This record gives sequence, structure tokens and C-alpha cells, in this order.
Amino acid sequence: MKNILKTILACTIAGTMMMASSNAMAGDKVGSFGIGDKTFLLNGKPFVIKAAEVHYPRIPREYWEHRIKMCKALGMNTLCIYIFWNIHEQQEGVFNFTDNNDIRHFVKLAQKNGMYVIVRPGPYVCAEWEMGGLPWWLLKKKDIKLREQDPYFMERLEIFEKKVGEQLGDLTIEKGGPIIMVQVENEYGSYGEDKPYISAVRDIIRKSGFDKVELFQCDWSSNFTKNGLDDLTWTMNFGTGANIDNEFKKLSQLRPNSPKMCSEFWSGWFDKWGGRHETRGAQAMVDGIRAMLDRGISFSLYMTHGGTNWGHWAGANSPGFAPDVTSYDYDAPINEAGQTTDKYFELREMMAKYNDGKKLPAVPKEFPTISIPTVEFKQVAPLYDNLPTPIESTNTKSFEELNQGWGCVLYRTTISQNINSESVLKITEAHDYAQIFVNKKFIGKIDRINRENSIILPALKEGDVLDIYVEALGRINFGRAIKDFKGITEKVELSYNLKNNSKVNIDLKGWQIYCLPDDYKSQTEMKYVAINEQNKNCRGNYRATFKLSKVGDTFINMEKFGKGQVYVNGHAIGRFWEIGPQQTLYMPGCWLKKGENEIIVQDVLGPKEASVEGLQEPIIDKLNLKGPQTHRLDGQNLDLSGEKPAHSGSLKAGNGWQEVKFDKPVSGRYVCLEALNSHWNREYCCIAEIYLLNENGERLSREPWSIAYADDEDVQSGNKNGDKIFDLQESTYWSTNKGVKFPHSIIIDMNQDQTITGFQILPRMEEGAPESIKDYRIYVKSAPFKM
Ligand code: GLA
Repeated sequence: MKNILKTILACTIAGTMMMASSNAMAGDKVGSFGIGDKTFLLNGKPFVIKAAEVHYPRIPREYWEHRIKMCKALGMNTLCIYIFWNIHEQQEGVFNFTDNNDIRHFVKLAQKNGMYVIVRPGPYVCAEWEMGGLPWWLLKKKDIKLREQDPYFMERLEIFEKKVGEQLGDLTIEKGGPIIMVQVENEYGSYGEDKPYISAVRDIIRKSGFDKVELFQCDWSSNFTKNGLDDLTWTMNFGTGANIDNEFKKLSQLRPNSPKMCSEFWSGWFDKWGGRHETRGAQAMVDGIRAMLDRGISFSLYMTHGGTNWGHWAGANSPGFAPDVTSYDYDAPINEAGQTTDKYFELREMMAKYNDGKKLPAVPKEFPTISIPTVEFKQVAPLYDNLPTPIESTNTKSFEELNQGWGCVLYRTTISQNINSESVLKITEAHDYAQIFVNKKFIGKIDRINRENSIILPALKEGDVLDIYVEALGRINFGRAIKDFKGITEKVELSYNLKNNSKVNIDLKGWQIYCLPDDYKSQTEMKYVAINEQNKNCRGNYRATFKLSKVGDTFINMEKFGKGQVYVNGHAIGRFWEIGPQQTLYMPGCWLKKGENEIIVQDVLGPKEASVEGLQEPIIDKLNLKGPQTHRLDGQNLDLSGEKPAHSGSLKAGNGWQEVKFDKPVSGRYVCLEALNSHWNREYCCIAEIYLLNENGERLSREPWSIAYADDEDVQSGNKNGDKIFDLQESTYWSTNKGVKFPHSIIIDMNQDQTITGFQILPRMEEGAPESIKDYRIYVKSAPFKM
């Protein structure tokens, strides 16, 4: 009975909402948008926001309107956009709101197409975007506190938001524009607890021209109370499959009359270099949205169309360093190239039922794709023939100290003595991919992704030239690590043992620093020569032209090249890396020309063969890794016999965080969690997040963590490897493979001994927390476990 009543109520609410939403279309008349009793009010009537998240800088301006129409044909009534500070103010005080940065034009196009707009002007946006949208030049003030009330940060933020206000302030609904809501900061709960800062950002946004429009905050259901301001609307972010009632439980308790909105309902997920392409099933997405519509809950589908991280704009995730790929396909309903997918049609079919009986607009025609026959490169500008005039410096300098935002830097020093044995070269720290050469001969690499920081050098002679060629990848966009300096961030040391075994440690000084920024001008100004037998695979820039009789979208296959960036007709179209999963780069037809086109490939590793071709289909899920993606090496078998558990117990069933306190503190570096079984005897074992607690019962930093072992990891159906238990994302999780029997074990390496008094654990977010652990044992040791 209770259920029937619930259904009737849900249908009534949904019905009312449908009526309101169908009549509502963004026109250019003055309107109103506000908060009513458990609902948003548009022009005084209940309104359900059906928003599509799309990001203007990830779509060529020429295609903006097409993508907007695609969203509309899905049944969406609103577009949700971030404003990316760092693309608009690439140099301090120099602003650009033109061309692909013309946010005013984008918002007006939305209005022209009858769509409302939600604006999320940051300052921080996360979004898998370089430094979460913050400009790198903020880091020139080395001790800056980002996303806090640091006077310089706040001063720059205020200046920027004022510029945003100049573009969009008169486009809010009560002034006749389509903007119905504006967001204050972004998921601050996963960064810190600082209401005075959030209040200051709110005041700046208000002052910038968003004086009357509705303001809101978005966070996770587990942490939104930390920074929730009394006068702002609170919305929740969560992904497909999440238990929706659970996600809004706390909000309903605290604010029973608040409208509900999932401000980011994740349709898919982002990809990192060296990991499988992420996918999420269509069914869970469609069911989730249907469930929200049935309850009158507003949503924004993140992403409805992901697009592309052109040039160097992809960010990186942390803890650790996990740079994102160029494609931001996101497994979204509209794919990277703006094409429909099965997911698109499944969603559209369902959304059509929530359109007040009216037909959805027709799906716009896709842009044609073309293939381009093999283009052979005939010209190369070798790295070593193209070093600019160096900067002389006693110490190494970071990119920021060199006033360089992106690209590469080559650091050179001369060895001042003979070292007759091998030595260890240690870089503190190389951000992000360093290649080491002695007298221009390649010795090896130090890759931040793998937490590498040293390399063995052969015997050296006085006068030998040591080069460290550092390529920066995207700055971290998540967590405290967003303060991500590039290049060599501190120092370089060389150490070796004398015959009597005493250790010598030399702090290397006297550097020549060659700056190699990655702008198009620098790429064209290099000295290109004909490719020959000697230079055909060298590190450097490769240039070619190719003729087209018709243009169209295409996917440039980079499989023959190593690692670097591509420029076509002056457009930086993104990074490539042979390790994958992305092997092709999306090339929009609107940036190609009939007749002659130019392509420049900057390859920091050197190609196997200098040629590319244009494909009609993308390759975004092809890994080329030397080692396995999993943490268990061949032949490894964890042996816990003889180990004494530090603690054992049982976890409760159901969603949400649980905390366990040990009887007495334990110390060690390696923590092994052994799961003995799961609730309801399910076949596999999953953990979304885990924290270890220190002497004061507080969470230990997970920055230095890595996974030393996991007996089993599902990397077939997605990226469900052990790292997911500390990736700061509650919606992603470690999972073993179906059918692999309990017990399951995972070992965290904390990188140093720590005292632990307990742990906090989060199972999966789906209803009933599927595959959650029941009985477990914990082992803690200073030495590695026996395998
Ligand atoms: C969070 C952020 C978004 C994005 C998603 C993951 O919700 O707010 O900007 O980073 O995670 O794609």
C-alpha cells in the first residue's frame, strides 16, 4: 500500500513537473527562477531542470550550435557549463573572450535554441582540466594558497569574475537572458572545510553582475554539510548506478523543503594514459534519470557531450599522478565527435516520455567523416639542432620560475670530475616525464606516473654533458595536489660509492636551461630539414602537408609516433602517447581546408615511422603497456600464514561510510586488508574508498600511498584496479573478477611507517552497496609481506 501511494505521489509530482517544463522555453523575455516548496520555480511554476553538461572550450566554436541542438533533441531543457579561468586569462591580466572562448556567444546560442543555462564560474572547476581551471601563473607566487583566502588568489579571482560578469551578467533570467542559476566554487567538500572562503567567493560572484540570480553549491552527499552556506541552494553529485534516495537522505533531513538536484550525474568517466577506456552501461544511466524524473528531481548529465581536451588542456588526477588523455569522450551519450551512440537513443526514448506528450525535436544530422590516406613526413626539426639560447643558472628552475606555462625544458650540466663507477641520479622531483642523456646518448627515463625518481648512470668522465629533458603533462586538477609545479621542482643529486664504500653525494649545480614552450609559433620557427637515414627516428618536430579535395571530421592515427603533441593548420589538437588507450586524435573537419593542410607532430620520444593517416573511426581503447595493469606480478601469491592480524571484525551491510577503531594502535608501512567473504555471499569483492586513521583518530594523508598487491583486479570490464580505493572518488571502486573465490587481499604501501588506530571504509554507491565486504582481517607490518 505504502508503495502504491508512493507511486501515485511520484506520478503526480512528475506530471506537474512535466506540465511546467513543457511550457518553459528560454526566450528573451524577462523571467524569474527561484526556489519553491520542494521544487524550483520557473516564472512562478514548478520546474524540473533537465540539464546537459557541455564545455565550450572542448568543442570547436563552429560546432557549438550543432551540439546544443543534439542536447535539445535528447529532451534537455538546460545547458550546464563551467567557465575555465585559465583558458581566458593565459597570462596574468590578459583576457580573451573571443572565438572559442566567446562564452557570451555560447550562452546566446543556447537561448536562441530555447535552452536555459546554468553557469559554473569556478574559480576552480576540476573537470579533468589543467589545474582544475586555475591559471598556472598563480604558482609564480610559490607560497600561494590556492582555493583559500590568500590575498593574491582572492585579488586575481575577483578581477576574473568581474570579467565573467561583464560577459554574462546581463544574460541572467531576470534581465531577459537564459541563465537560471550560478554555482559557487566546486565540490569544496573534497578539498577542505572553509566557510569564510566559500562566503567570500559567493560575495565576489554576486558583486560581479550575478546580483539577483539563484546561487547554488554542489558537493557529495557525504560531505556537503562541511561548507554548505545557509543562503545557497545545495545540490548533490553522484554517478550512474548510485542509490538515489540515499544520496538525498541527508539533504531531506536538513532541508525538507529544498528542491532536489543531482548537479552532476556522471554518464561515464574520464580516461588516463595507461588505463583502459572507461565505460558505464546505458541502462544504469537511463534508469537513474528516469528514477529522478519520477521523483521530480532535477539533474545535469555530466557529460552529455564531453568533447576534446585540445592542446595541453587535459588535467591529471591524484593521489599519485594520473594524467588524462586528450579525448574527453567520457562514454557520454553524444560521443567525442558529436555523433549519436546507442546510449543517446536509449536516453532519448525514455526522455521523450517526460516531454508532456510533445515530440522531441529531430536529431540533427551528423557532420560527415572522411579518411585521409597515409601522409608521409618529409621534414624534421631534430631536438638537438633546435635548442634555443639557454638561461644560465646555478640551480635548476621550475617552469613557473622560468615563466613558462607548458611544454618542455631541457636542463644541461657538465660533470666536473671522473666518476669511475656507476652512480645514481636522483631528481627531486621531475614533473612529469624526464629523459636522461649523457653526451646526447639516451640513458633512460624517469616517469612520474610510476613514482620514479632516480636512475643509474654509467661511469662518467670530467666534461661529460648530462641532459635532462622534461616534458610537462597536465597539471593536477583534483585534491590538494593542484599546486603542481612543472619541470625540475627542487634539485638534482648524483651519488656513488668510493672504493672504501663511503658514499659521495653531489648536489648538481651550474645549469644551462633551454626553454621549449609548446605554442604553435615555437613549433613553426624550428629549423626543418629533409628526413634522412640518420635523423628519421629522432626526437623533434615532424612537418608535412597534405591535400584534401573535401573536408570532414577524421581521427588521426598516431600509432607510428611515440609521445607528444600535434598541430594541424595551427590548431593544437592534443597529446598522444603510444601507451594508449587513445591512439587516434579527433580532428574536426571545420579546422581542415580544401587544398593544402599542414600537420606538425612534436615527438619527445621519436617515431617508429614518420607517417599518419586519417581514420573514420576513433581508436580510444588500445593499450600498449609493457607490464601488466594489475598489481599482482606473475607467480606472486600472498602468504599470510604465520602473520598475526592486528584486528579482525565484520562490516555492516548497506551504503555509506563505516568507521572501525582498533583495540590498540599498531605501526607499520604495509597494511593488508583480507576480505573473508561478502554480504549476501556475492561473488566478488569491492571497495570504493578507504582511509586509515592516525593516533588522533584523524585520516592519514593518502598522497604517498601506492598499492603493493591486490590478489585480483577487474581491468577487463573497466578500470577497477586497486588504486581506486584511494582515488578520492566515491563513485569508482576496486573490484575483483566475477568467479574468483574469497578470500581477497589488498595491500597498501604507505611509503613509511605510520601508527594506525583504525580505518574508514566506503562500499559501492549502488543501492544495497553490492559486493561489500563482511568479515575481514587487517595485518600491519613494517617489512613487505611474503609472496
Ligand atoms: C567532479 C567534478 C567534475 C568532474 C567529475 C569527474 O564531480 O566536479 O568537474 O571532475 O568529478 O568527471
